[in-house]
Formats: sequence, C-alpha cells, structure tokens
Amino acid sequence: MVKLLFDLLEFLRACAPLLMSLVVLTLLCILLSKSIRKYSTVYYTVLGIPFVLIAIPVIARLFGVDMAGFSRVPFLGEIIRDYIHMATFGHPLLIIIMYMGALDMKTPGVKRLMSIRKELSIISGFAVLSHSLIRVLNNLPASLTYFADRDAYMAGRTVTSELGAGITNFSFVWGILLLVLFIPLWVTSFDSIRNRMGYKKWKKVQKWAYVLYAALFIHAVGIQVGFMMNPRGGGHGQQKTAVEKVVTQVAENGKEAVKQMPQTSVQATSKRTPTKGFADIAVSSSTKQYIHLFSILFIYASYLFLRLRKAKKGKKKRPVSVA
Ligand code: HEM
Repeated sequence: MVKLLFDLLEFLRACAPLLMSLVVLTLLCILLSKSIRKYSTVYYTVLGIPFVLIAIPVIARLFGVDMAGFSRVPFLGEIIRDYIHMATFGHPLLIIIMYMGALDMKTPGVKRLMSIRKELSIISGFAVLSHSLIRVLNNLPASLTYFADRDAYMAGRTVTSELGAGITNFSFVWGILLLVLFIPLWVTSFDSIRNRMGYKKWKKVQKWAYVLYAALFIHAVGIQVGFMMNPRGGGHGQQKTAVEKVVTQVAENGKEAVKQMPQTSVQATSKRTPTKGFADIAVSSSTKQYIHLFSILFIYASYLFLRLRKAKKGKKKRPVSVA
C-alpha cells in the first residue's frame, strides 16, 4: 500500500512536476511556518548554500580559474539543478507568494503562509538568482545573437520552426525584464531596507509585484511553447526543458535503483507474476510537456480569477465616501 502510494507520487512528479512541487512546498511551508519565522536566519543560511555553490565556479571563471561545478555531487547536485531550473523550487515558491494575495487571509493555512511571506520571498530569491546567473551566462548571449545577427544564430543549429525559435529567444531576453523587476522587490523584502524606506514607499514598490507576475507568466509560457514548437533548437542546442530534466532524472533514478538491487532480488522479482504499477504507465514526453503547459495556464488563470474576485469583494465592503 505504502509502495503504491510512493509509486503514485513518483508518477505524478514525473508527469506534473510543477503541480506536485507546488502541493508539497505549500504543505511544507504551512507545517514549518512557525519555525521558518523563528529561525529565519538559519533557513536563509542553509537555503542560500546552493546559490553560493552555483556562484563560486562562475566567479572563479571570472578570475581565470577553471573549476568544475557541484552539480555532479550526488544529492547536492539535484538540489543545485532544482535551483537552476526553477520548475520544482523557485517557480512554486513564487506561485505560493503570489497566491497568498488572492486568497482569504482568515483561512488558517493562508494565515500561516501570510505570516512567512517575507521569509519566503527572501528564500525564493536564492533560486531566482541562481537561475538568472546561469541563464544570463549560458542562454542570453545566443538569444541576443538571434536578434542581432539571425544568420550567425542559425549557423550550426537545427531550427525546425522559426516561429518557435523566435518565441524562445524573445522569452529568454524577456528574462532581463524579470530580473529588473525582481531585484528591487527582493531587496525590499529585507527588514533593514524596508524600515529605512518607510511603509508608504515600500508599499508603492510592492505594487510592481503584479507586473512581475504577468511577466513571469509570459516568460514561462513562452519558453514552454517555444520549446514545443522547436524542440531541437528550443533551449539552444542540446538543452532540455525543466520538465524534461525532471522526467529524465526520475527515470534515471529508477534505472539506477534497479541496477543497484542485489542480483537475487532482481531474479526473485522477475519470477513473480508481473504486477502492473504506476511505473509501467508510459506517458510520452510531448504529453508531459502539454501537462506542464496546462499546469502553468491553469495556475495563472485561477490566480487572476481569485485576485479579481477578491478585489471586487473589497470594493463592495468599502463604504462609499460622502464628499
Ligand atoms: C535573462 C535572464 C533569464 C533567462 C535567459 C531565463 C531563461 C530561462 C530558461 C531557459 C528557462 C527554462 C527552464 C530551465 O531550464 O531553466 C526558464 C524558465 C523559467 N524562468 Fe527564467 N530566465 C531568466 C530570468 C528569470 C528570472 C529573473 C525569473 C524570475 C523572476 C525567471 C523565472 C522563470 C520561471 C518561473 C521559469 C519557468 C519554470 C517552469 O517551467 O515552471 N527567469 N527561464
């Protein structure tokens, strides 16, 4: 029974990594809200480590020292990849922060999340900065070439859809706008800066979060659609989308687990009547990509609906001023 449940969770993680991570992280944040608030510095220190490990080789290279990254270190490497690819850590965190503003603050779970909104914003920054650092260095130069010198970009690349390549490169360059919007919002999450600014000014800056959410939607959907239209050249060459990387990782972990099983247990398993489990359900990678795209569309559309509904309710409650 427990195995079946784990199989199901693994299957769902492979098919819908964004939705699964969102559910798991929401539950974790609710459960850990008190400790996150109390020991926020410890959480910042621990969750900031992957960012530092990502930044060290980059900085070393700037000083002419060629050092290997930490992404091949077992376990740590997986966390580093999660930070870089956004789909399983940074994006769900940003969605949780975004959704809080659209939900009823009196609901106990939302209340708990609301009490750690600042802390979650700061933590999300470690993933966003990791993602941006790697993407600016690895993807942005080629995207800029696409717009500056199309022929140079096309040379040596398999582009199956020009429109797809255009959407992908536009979405990558769009990432700069995201970075410009994100940095001030992130920096002003720190108490010391917030207190220095004063509440009115801080509130004004925070309004830009809505522009960030809209820009995030364009970035995430654009990258996914661009890649689906132009899989070979979508991520600039051999890159896979975040969802594909998670899927491959899960599949490889499964194969590795079978390889590591003692021979006798493998034989014993093969002698038993094969029982069909979730691991036997074959879901094509294009289906997984559609699931990921629809997850993003569903999440942002339902946020918009809930946010507008809340704004309408708020307007109704506000007394009409008699001027
Ligand atoms: C110039 C800067 C940027 C570039 C070139 C860029 C590029 C990319 C790429 C290639 C992906 C595909 C997933 C992967 O393999 O990483 C992606 C996804 C994403 N990026 Fe960026 N990015 C940039 C900046 C940002 C910033 C600043 C944010 C957040 C504030 C952000 C948020 C996201 C999100 C939410 C996804 C979607 C993840 C998913 O599919 O769920 N990006 N970006």
